[in-house]
Amino acid sequence: MDLVIRNGTVATASDTFKADIGITGGRVTAIAESLSGEREIDATGKLVLPGGIEAHCHIAQESATGGMTADDYRSGSISAAFGGNSCFVPFAAQHRGMGVIETLDLYDSRAEGASVIDYGYHLIVADPTEKALAEELPQAFARGVTSFKVFMTYDLMKIDDGQFLDILSVAKRHGALTMVHAENSGIIKWISDRLVAAGHTQPRYHAISHPAAAEAEAINRAITLARFVDAPLLIVHVSTPEGAGLVAKARLDGAKIFGETCPQYLFLTKEDLDRPGMEGAKFMCSPPVRDTATQEALWRHLQAGTFSVFSSDHAPYRFDASGKLSKGPDASFKQIANGMPGIALRLPLLFSEGVRGGRITLNQFVALGSTNAAKLYGMHPQKGTIAIGADADIAIWDPEETRTVTVEDQHDNMDYTPFEGRQVTGWPVTVLSRGEAVIEGGKLVAEPGRGRFVARARPDFTGHPGTRTPELDPGWNFGAEIAP
Ligand code: URP
Ligand code: ZN
Ligand code: ZN
Ligand code: ZN
Repeated sequence: MDLVIRNGTVATASDTFKADIGITGGRVTAIAESLSGEREIDATGKLVLPGGIEAHCHIAQESATGGMTADDYRSGSISAAFGGNSCFVPFAAQHRGMGVIETLDLYDSRAEGASVIDYGYHLIVADPTEKALAEELPQAFARGVTSFKVFMTYDLMKIDDGQFLDILSVAKRHGALTMVHAENSGIIKWISDRLVAAGHTQPRYHAISHPAAAEAEAINRAITLARFVDAPLLIVHVSTPEGAGLVAKARLDGAKIFGETCPQYLFLTKEDLDRPGMEGAKFMCSPPVRDTATQEALWRHLQAGTFSVFSSDHAPYRFDASGKLSKGPDASFKQIANGMPGIALRLPLLFSEGVRGGRITLNQFVALGSTNAAKLYGMHPQKGTIAIGADADIAIWDPEETRTVTVEDQHDNMDYTPFEGRQVTGWPVTVLSRGEAVIEGGKLVAEPGRGRFVARARPDFTGHPGTRTPELDPGWNFGAEIAP
């Protein structure tokens, strides 16, 4: 064997056990007691986990308003690796007037030669033309981009309900997963216009203009549309108990509905938007951070399995004139880029508060941080688990190490972290990608460009039977017509 990880405690989404892991040719080839290899890593006292899969992050991406994220595939992947990730799936964002294939080619050119870990993209569909629906989305799928994201809000990105049904139908036909940013744009615009007219433009009003009702209405509508055509749908960045409850209900009904939440909704509150001066802008994201009661409710939904994936939604806009403050120091909340960084902290925060805090099991941590994303995004069992034949994408964690979060330790291109000063216990110390060390002894040891594009397969929806709509099936045998 090329490499053996010895004496560690291995955990997958289902089991925790003591074993050595043998790696040959970049893949796991042995899981046994007392292995030996050409190289050995002593993992005594450490946890040996599948490398994290960061499934929601914005890298080298223009926002709807034109601003570019501060992180590219180099810095974004390096920061992700420091945070225990061996794979990430940022977005390739189609803007109106752009073709889908043109969009994917553009992101290929941004990613190639840059990433230290393996990567894929979710395709953001903002312009579902006939050509896109009939030809280009199938081509994207064939190219290994097997998840599409749509927006129900943001003027330059949002699609209407009919377009949403079109995209869900095409995705269903090919076995792709649709993801949705679910907020009601009319409610947001209606409140925002009134707040701005009254001179209420400080960051705190961002949260007021994105009420829980706007998320709940849109999640309900998104789930209704997906269930109408019996298509799988993942609601990203769920931020409210109301929204989580709708996801939970649909899952109990057997619908192919999945949910994601993010650290900001568990660790920050709208009080953070009230920090002095423009500091609150650092904590602006959409949907916004809420309150402590919401945090507790979302933790319970994590425990109960409402959420399949836990993602950072890393959206790195610096706290300077290149990012958040590009419209000046007195910008209104409408002019400040939405989003916050956190790609290196997603897993440590979940481990520290979730696993060490007794809120979730170590196996749930693995499922939420890696395995479920691999399944939903068509990479399992190549990635997302430690098993014979799987890529040796492995993170070795020291569960006892305590550090205080600083922006310098993020290794991204950002000038702040919203989690500055927080004490976190449990950190990844070594990260392997296909058996090669990316992080070792707290240092980056891999070259940008070694990461490969992962042509993803069909997502695995096993165990989610779906629901039938009587009007469409069997009268108009919609299911059969669009079956693969
Ligand atoms: O505020 C956020 N989350 N910005 C990033 C784009 C998005 O909506 O996911
Ligand atoms: Zn979003
Ligand atoms: Zn996002
Ligand atoms: Zn460092």
